[in-house]
Order: sequence, then C-alpha cells, then structure tokens
Amino acid sequence: MNILIFGAGYVGLCTGATLCHLGNNITFYDVDATKILSLQNGKVPIFEPDLTDILQKEYNIQYTAEAKQAIEKAQIIFVCVPTPQNNDGSANLTYLFAAINQIIDANTIGKKIIVIKSTVPIGTNHIIGQMIKNVNYGNELFLASNPEFLREGNAIYDSFNPDRIVIGYKEEFVKDTMLELYDTINCPKICVDNTTAETIKYASNAFLATKISFINMFSQICDKLGGDVNEVANAMGLDSRIGPQFLNAGIGYGGSCFSKDIASLMYTCKHNNINSNILKGTVEINNSQTDHIINKLKMQLGDLNQKNIVILGLTFKPNTDDLRDAPSIKLINELLAQGANVKVHDPVAGISFKNIIPQVKIAEECTRIDHTILTITHDADAIMLVTEWDVYKKLNWERIKCSMRRGLLFDCRNALDAQKMRNLGLEYFGVGI
Ligand code: NAD
Ligand code: UGA
Repeated sequence: MNILIFGAGYVGLCTGATLCHLGNNITFYDVDATKILSLQNGKVPIFEPDLTDILQKEYNIQYTAEAKQAIEKAQIIFVCVPTPQNNDGSANLTYLFAAINQIIDANTIGKKIIVIKSTVPIGTNHIIGQMIKNVNYGNELFLASNPEFLREGNAIYDSFNPDRIVIGYKEEFVKDTMLELYDTINCPKICVDNTTAETIKYASNAFLATKISFINMFSQICDKLGGDVNEVANAMGLDSRIGPQFLNAGIGYGGSCFSKDIASLMYTCKHNNINSNILKGTVEINNSQTDHIINKLKMQLGDLNQKNIVILGLTFKPNTDDLRDAPSIKLINELLAQGANVKVHDPVAGISFKNIIPQVKIAEECTRIDHTILTITHDADAIMLVTEWDVYKKLNWERIKCSMRRGLLFDCRNALDAQKMRNLGLEYFGVGI
C-alpha cells in the first residue's frame, strides 16, 4: 500500500520503518524542512536502536516537505504529530488539526484512510470525523484510530512485537484495510469504536505511571521504616494478578508522554465531573521522588553549597537521546539552586543537555568510557546514577572511587549491585533499599 506518514518524529519514523519492512511504500512528510533534508541525506535525527539500519536499508522510502503530491498518491495517511500539554493541562491539538486541514485542503480524489496515531483526548476522533464529513468530497476520506504503545529505546522491537494492536473504526472497509495492513504482525488485534480506542491509550499510560508511583511510595516507606523495596516489588510481581513489570522504584517517571497524558486525562475528568484523585496521587508521588532523593543526599552531605556532585545519565531512560521531561533536569536544577557544583555525563545526550542547563560541566570524551568518567569524578563528593545505561554497570568503580573526595554513590535507579559497590568501599545508597 502507498502510505504517507505525517510527522517524522519518534512515532512517525518508527511506524514508517516498520510498515516499509512489511512491504509498503512509505513517504514521510514533516513541516520541519530541515528534518526532511537531514533524512534525505541519510541522517536520522533521533537515537533509537535499529531505526537507522532499517531506514537506510529499505528502498521504498521517500522524504518530502511538500504535502500535496504525497497526499494525492497515498491510500493511507498516518498522523503522528505532537499533542503537547497546554498550560491548563489539556492537550494542544493545533498540530493535529493543522495536519487534518492540510489533508482536507489537498482536495484529492480517491478513497483514503486517515489513521490517528497521535495520542488524542477522548472524543477527538469524533471531531475529526465531523471535519471530514463537512467537506463536499468527504465521502472519500475515512478515519481510523490506531493509538501507539511503543516505548522509546525499544521502539522498533515493540513495533514488530506489540502486545496488542488497537484499531478504532466506523466503516467495515476501514477495519478490513487496517487488519490487512497488520496481518503479518502476530498479536491480538482489538477492533473497537474510535472513542474506546482513544480511551484504551489513556487508560494504559495512566495505569503504567500509577504502578510506578505506587512502588515509589513504598520506596519512601522502606527508606523511613526499613525494608527493601526491590524485594517487595519482586514478591508482589510474582503474584500473576499484579505482574512484575513497571515496579522498579527510582527517581520517578519522565519522558514526553506520561506527564502530559495524565494531565490531559485529568483535564477531561475535571470537565466531565469525574473524580480523578488517583491520578492526582500518581503525579504528586512522582513529583516528590526527587525531593526525597535530595533529602537522602543531604542527610549524608549536609548543606549542598559548594559540594561537587557528578550525575551519570541524563536522558529519561536508557537507549534514547530524549531529554523531554527527564528527571535529571529537575534534580540538577535543584542541586544548582542549593549551591552545588554539578558535572554530568550521558552516553548520547550530554551536548544537547548543555542547551537545557548551560551551567553544568560535561565530561570530556576520551576513547575509553572509564577515562571519560574520570574527567568529572575527580574531587567529587557524590555520584548520582540517574539513568541506568548499561555502560555504567560495567565501569571500573574501584578506580572511580579513588578519584573522589568522598565515595558517596547514590543509585537513583537501583541498577547497581549494592553489595559489590559496598565491598569496593563506596558508601552506596539506593532508593528504598
Ligand atoms: P515528535 O515531536 O518526536 O515528532 C512529531 C513530528 O511531527 C515533528 O517532527 C514535527 O515537526 C512534526 N509535525 C508537527 N506538525 C506537523 C504537521 N502539521 N504536519 C506534518 N508534521 C508535523 O513526537 P512523537 O514523540 O513522535 O509523538 C507524536 C505523538 O505520538 C504524540 O501524540 C505522542 O503522545 C504520541 N506517542 C508518542 C510515543 C513516544 O514514545 N514518543 C509513544 C506513543 C505515542
Ligand atoms: C511509555 C509507555 O511505556 C508506552 O507504552 C507508551 O507508548 C509511551 O509511554 C507513550 O505513550 O509515549 P516511554 O515513555 O517511552 O513509554 O518509556 P517507559 O519505558 O514507559 O518509561 C517511562 C518512564 O518511567 C521512564 O522515565 C522510566 O525510567 C520510568 N520507569 C519505568 C520507572 O521509573 N520504573 C519502571 O518500573 C518503569
């Protein structure tokens, strides 16, 4: 099938790469002409394992900054544009409606399905349905809701191996075409009305975020009253009704979606007089986790003024260069506000982080990772591991400890072997352990 992807960002590029690999012709369109130019020159603007490989290997891919021609030849148009958060918590649908209007204004002939992949508030597909219906040639444009569940850092794997595919539809022809498109992907296909599809997406993200806040609340309980939150999570997770995933205590969730999707869902609830206090609790616990960790740090270091703190890992999770809503940003801003000197390292996002918080010093890149890290640990009072990149687990921690003024190690992700670190003489602290 001829598929057009509106929006060459995380979701757009991964969706297009996957559908191309499944044998479709893909055209990417983006309003950002610089991004399109860079893609045309073989440069993929995001760091996502396996994405560049697929985009460079597949032949049936085009990139364009001209929408009209691309719309004309497309049978299916995936809308993968941003839906960021407004100040009042609601989702900003400017980009989405701009994309839909562009498709309508192209005034092309022939049947086309517009597939909404962006995460949109419950009821948005209904509005888009009206927009399509209100144009003369409206019967040629059809609508499907196909929310995305990929995780950054695992996006390509998730696209080929999803737990389920959700298809919202009104016309049988739309359902059949979408099922044919995903035919070779082996997973349950949930075909529902558009509103249910939109709701599944919000319910899933809200539940995952709540699960994280739930275990983080217990990490605070363990830190105060004793107990080991890792063992609590492990034993809870063995109950098949609970399941082991998303029970890793840490510095709290970040990323481009959990916070904004929960805010948007809370806005929807508020405007429909629905009690969403469970979500309020999720957000409050997530916000309190950084303060909790800083308090633990201060219990060891006292006043943070002029203390040298090293941060390892800046992205909101490993295997991505995405810094959107990364917990490192809030943590570092707070450390700086309390007078600490902050030096940082991240395997991929150090330089972009400088644009967010210019006061930090970034590790000097050396040929060996251990040497790179040693450029910032000299005279450090504490190291805080904020993103659990694999490279940090394999560092020469003994050597690093010797370079420090005081060997405090705060593992904000419970990612390192506590006993091993203590055996090396480091003063190791985790979250809730
Ligand atoms: P992104 O910011 O990485 O990419 C969006 C792209 O759309 C940008 O390149 C932007 O220039 C482009 N764009 C904006 N307006 C456009 C228009 N009118 N026409 C064409 N292109 C346009 O965003 P993303 O992270 O890929 O997220 C997209 C949507 O998918 C959001 O609704 C998000 O909530 C949802 N989502 C994201 C993820 C994720 O892991 N990032 C996962 C599931 C769902
Ligand atoms: C999340 C969902 O997992 C995806 O299903 C969804 O498609 C996506 O949001 C979206 O809608 O954008 P993502 O944000 O890429 O995916 O990454 P996650 O693996 O969910 O991690 C989110 C945050 O939670 C990270 O900061 C991570 O470190 C944190 N986390 C995750 C924990 O603190 N503990 C855990 O047990 C799991």
